[in-house]
This record gives sequence, C-alpha cells and structure tokens, in this order.
Amino acid sequence: MGASKRIAVVGSGTMGMQISALAAAAGYHTTLYDLIPAAIDRALDRIDGDILPAIVNSGMLPEPTSVMEARSRLITANTLEGAVTDADIVVEAIKEDLEVKLGMFEQLNRLAPNAILSTNSSSLPSRPLTEVVDRPERLLNTHFFAPVWERSMVELMTCGQTSEEAFATWTEVGEAMGLVVARVQGESKGFIINRVWRAIKRESLRVVDEGHGTPEDVDRLFRLFFGAKTAPFQTMDLVGLDVVADIEKTYHAVATDPADVPIETLTDMVEAGTLGQKTGRGFYTYPNPACEDPDFLKPKKR
Ligand SMILES: NC(=O)c1ccc[n+]([C@@H]2O[C@H](COP(=O)([O-])OP(=O)(O)OC[C@H]3O[C@@H](n4cnc5c(N)ncnc54)[C@H](O)[C@@H]3O)[C@@H](O)[C@H]2O)c1
Repeated sequence: MGASKRIAVVGSGTMGMQISALAAAAGYHTTLYDLIPAAIDRALDRIDGDILPAIVNSGMLPEPTSVMEARSRLITANTLEGAVTDADIVVEAIKEDLEVKLGMFEQLNRLAPNAILSTNSSSLPSRPLTEVVDRPERLLNTHFFAPVWERSMVELMTCGQTSEEAFATWTEVGEAMGLVVARVQGESKGFIINRVWRAIKRESLRVVDEGHGTPEDVDRLFRLFFGAKTAPFQTMDLVGLDVVADIEKTYHAVATDPADVPIETLTDMVEAGTLGQKTGRGFYTYPNPACEDPDFLKPKKR
C-alpha cells in the first residue's frame, strides 16, 4: 500500500482534482494546492460529489477502499510551500504554458529539494524544465487522462536525464492507482496515445476536407470497424474544436512534413465559432447529436 509515500498535487483544475483523488484512493497521503482558493473549493466539491465515488466504485483500485477512508487521506494547503515541503512526489497540473511551468519548477526545485517532480503537461516535454531543476534525474512527465476511472492509464516520459529509480517509483505508484503504466522510450514529440490520436484526427479531417466522406460516415465506419464506443468527430466535438486546433498548431510548429499544415475544415469552423458540444454546434448539433441516436450504427431505412 502506498501509505508510506506522500504526494502533493499542484493545480486543482480538471486534472489536479482527479489525480489527487486517485492518489488518496490508492492509499497515499495527499495534499492538493491551487493558487486560487476558490479553485480548491470547487475541486473539493467535485471530489466529494462525483470523483471519489466514481474512482472507488469503478473497481480500478487493486486495494479497495471506501470514499470516507480515501477522503481522510486528502488535505489541502494554503501555500505552495505547505503543500510540497514533506512530499516524496509532486505532480504539477497547472496551465499548459512553458513560462508558467518554468516559474513553478523553479519554486519546486527550492521548496521540495528531495521529491520526485513530475509534470502532467499534455504537449510540453519536460526537458526545458531541466534548466531550473538542479537534479534533473528526479524530473519526468507523468501524463494522466480524464476521467481517470475510465481512461485508467498514465504515460511516463523522461526529461532526458530521469533516473531509473524515479521511473520505478512512478511505475509502482501508477500500478497502486490501478493504472496501466506505459513508459515512452526516449523523448518523443508527443505522448504515445496523443500521436496515435493525432494521426486518426488528421486523416479523418482530411477525408472530410477533400469531400470524400461526411463526419457521420467516418464516425460510423470507425466505430463499426474498431468496435469503438466513440469516434473521431464525436470526440473532437467533445474536446472543443478550438482546443483541437491549438493542439494542431503545436504539432505544425515542429512538423518536418511540408504537408502538415492546418486543415481548412477545422480552421473555418473555429473562425465561425462552431466549437463543438460547448457551443451547441460542431460536426454535430447539440443536444441530441446524430451520433448518439440509437440507430446511428444501423443500416439506413429507405
Ligand atoms: N484536461 C485534460 O484532459 C488534460 C489531459 C492531460 C493533460 N492535461 C494537462 O494537465 C495540465 C492541467 O490541465 P487542466 O485541464 O487540469 O487545467 P485547468 O485549467 O483545469 O486547471 C489548472 C489549475 O492550475 C491552477 N494554477 C495556475 N497557475 C498556478 C500556479 N502558479 N500555482 C498553483 N496553481 C496554479 C489554476 O488556478 C487552475 O485551477 C495542463 O498542462 C494540461 O495540458 C490536461
């Protein structure tokens, strides 16, 4: 049981609230911190309301626990120092912005000199953070997914100098959390699943952009072929097309393939403000998008 290790989670947004709840459920004494006190209150409401019950009842934990027991292991801190001083592991889950993360790791380097420092960033590698961390062997990427009780996996990636000991500790912690732990070998431009998902996304968008298929047909064929519960356009609508376009920009910036340029269908929709589920219109219209119709995967009646 992970009770001997203390985990601090910095940033209590979408990911931080889930990672901290999962850590506590897995038996770790966990401290959650955010710069904005109201964000911590919001996180605790969600943790108590749905996140912890979902984790505990999902059956994902190798050592089952109760919501009450798990909750007793989770505390919050008013200061960054208070959150991380005693931590063995710090998980950073703040804004996806290199300058902001550099500022944070400069502080963590000072305030938690012996802890393993991990960043949950989705597209930023941890190598640039070695500039501000004295012992980079304790630094790595740990890439969690939401919701943790459904997407129960974590990707680990080196900063270029991460020690085997740090990887071993995170493998043990990830498995105690009930996660499939995948170690990215070497330094990749993007995590494993993000690269695979990007290829699917890009090719699906190209098919539609070239006029060879509709989003509905791509999604139908995809789901039937892979036996999947969801599909590319449905997922892009859920993520938000502005977010999808921003992620694409990060990849275009480092692309070596000259054909890797923004896809018009996507940029036009973002410009038009049709951003997916959150705006009521994307590749589908909401509520009641066609992809959720019980007959979506059935032959059309003529
Ligand atoms: N949302 C996802 O599905 C997802 C998945 C994988 C990885 N990520 C990555 O995880 C990280 C967090 O993403 P998120 O979606 O939880 O973001 P979010 O915007 O929901 O939460 C970020 C939180 O960090 C806090 N914060 C900002 N600066 C801070 C500071 N200096 N000190 C303490 N707290 C600070 C904010 O107040 C906010 O509550 C990002 O790097 C993101 O790319 C997100």
